[in-house]
Amino acid sequence: MAEYETILVERRDAVTLVTLNRPQALNALNSQVLADLIAAFAAYDADDSQRCLVLTGSEKAFAAGADIKEMSGQGFAEMYGSNFFGGWEKVTATRKPWIAAVAGYALGGGCEVAMMADFILAADSAKFGQPEIKLGVTPGMGGSQRLARAVGKSKAMEMCLTGRMMDAAEAESAGLVARVVPAAGLIDEAMKVAAAIAAMAPLAAIANKEMVNAAFETTLAQGVTFERRLFHGLFGTEDQKEGMAAFVEKRPGKWTGK
Ligand code: CAA
Repeated sequence: MAEYETILVERRDAVTLVTLNRPQALNALNSQVLADLIAAFAAYDADDSQRCLVLTGSEKAFAAGADIKEMSGQGFAEMYGSNFFGGWEKVTATRKPWIAAVAGYALGGGCEVAMMADFILAADSAKFGQPEIKLGVTPGMGGSQRLARAVGKSKAMEMCLTGRMMDAAEAESAGLVARVVPAAGLIDEAMKVAAAIAAMAPLAAIANKEMVNAAFETTLAQGVTFERRLFHGLFGTEDQKEGMAAFVEKRPGKWTGK
């Protein structure tokens, strides 16, 4: 497996576990972290043996944001010229499912990366926030857009304008996270959910992900048509035949990904 500087990558059966590993900076997301994540996510997407991925951090911090020390000296020409943060679109282009397992701080870019995931599982210690306004800036990795879609205008606006943190219970009731679990069991639970997803028919997993994401990009009518076309398309797969035969025969399906 490739060597990475800022993340740890482990494969457990069909699940890839990626752990952010810059404890000295509370997993602040610098350019090397982005390069490592782009490579690890591309390797995951290309590997037929891997069916789900979990991205996590440490007990104290999922990630405390983009690396302020790396950004602080930059000017407009460098930021605009390098399309700073543009590389995250390679992470969000991942076709296969991935989950963010968040304990501790998920602030600024940390909250934004968690929101790039297909869903967030939160430890009861998780704290989410977009505190960029306190640095004289704004979210830059999609936070204003994804937070508004996740929790609605009022709460997103309040979070961005005040920089206050949301705890795990509030994040769950606001719809930002799928579920909250005790911190000590976060990774086990995330790996269990990931293993359950990994055991599904692979093409159906991608299709389900694509159609839920389409809900945020299209009108209702276009989204419903997109859903129906993908549903129709799956009737051209071996796994649809197998899945429905397995149901009738009262046995688990055996998927080929074809
Ligand atoms: N960038 C760079 N370094 C960071 C960092 C960040 N985002 N967050 C923490 N660190 C570093 C600290 O500088 C410190 O390093 P030193 O020991 O060398 O001083 C180390 O991590 C530990 O941090 P603290 O001593 O501050 O830890 P704490 O427990 O007292 O506080 C915290 C924790 C409340 C999360 C605090 O570290 C903090 O407020 N961090 C910054 C949060 C933030 O503003 N994030 C947004 C960044 S901008 C952004 O993300 C833009 C975007 O939209 C993409």
